[in-house]
Amino acid sequence: MSARITVPSVQGRKVRRGDVPLVMVTAYDAPSARMADAAGIDMILVGDSVAMVVLGYEDTLQVTVADMAHHTAAVARATPASLIVADMPWMSYHVSVADTVKNAASLIRAGAQAVKLEGGRKRLPMVEALIDAEIPVMGHIGLTPQSVNTMGGFKVQGRKHEAALALVEDAKALAHAGCFAIVIEGVPDEVGRMITESIDVPTVGIGAGAGCDGQVLVFHDVLGIEDRVLPKFVRRYADLGAEGVRALGAYADDVRTGRFPSAAESYSLEARSAETLSLYGTPISPV
Ligand code: KIV
Repeated sequence: MSARITVPSVQGRKVRRGDVPLVMVTAYDAPSARMADAAGIDMILVGDSVAMVVLGYEDTLQVTVADMAHHTAAVARATPASLIVADMPWMSYHVSVADTVKNAASLIRAGAQAVKLEGGRKRLPMVEALIDAEIPVMGHIGLTPQSVNTMGGFKVQGRKHEAALALVEDAKALAHAGCFAIVIEGVPDEVGRMITESIDVPTVGIGAGAGCDGQVLVFHDVLGIEDRVLPKFVRRYADLGAEGVRALGAYADDVRTGRFPSAAESYSLEARSAETLSLYGTPISPV
């Protein structure tokens, strides 16, 4: 069994200090967590992207703390060595500091070792309260999917001078408040690098270029489980969607043509029962 990845072991990881980049992938249930763990992934993110890739919603705004706790618990039951980070869903950290801590605690009790929340300086009171309550926090800046309506779509952020500098200030403030790592999503490569160089905790990029201290992708995108439109930053490492359709088609064909199940895939009577039951008409032979 590999050693458990912990928040302190992630917090110090910086590529500029010679560390190997961090690898994070989303997972939403026990089998996907077991696969990520077996692949030696450092961190599993129980992302609110579960809303889109598993539950079929158009955006991430539809999932609740209860939904996230349900998926976090499933991931935790796989007991991965990877660090489990659970996303705080929309409206779980926007209303009050007290609600924020209570909601994050539900995710920790479900099995996460840390929570992630979206937004920069305006989230500082929430971040500080969580860290005060001994709940490690991962920040998330740039293209923050919970702001889809404010952004007018899933759009690359920080393309202009002022917006890029604002993201650097957000990252510095989150790191200063105690975030142990920061996800940077959907920003130009140069901005990802600038942010990474400005802070002492690791950055984990998604569509933020090669200059970050690690990368994160969505499980279903990496494995090609769905045929959705893919953003340009996704690299597919398998085509499990097509393979799944092929396998299910072969199963349907075997059932319809009587090739499934075979004798080897069926149970049989004990020899004596086969004999007595054959008295009722149909001859039954024990296998
Ligand atoms: O929910 C998610 O999958 C995420 C990643 C895109 C970082 O937040």
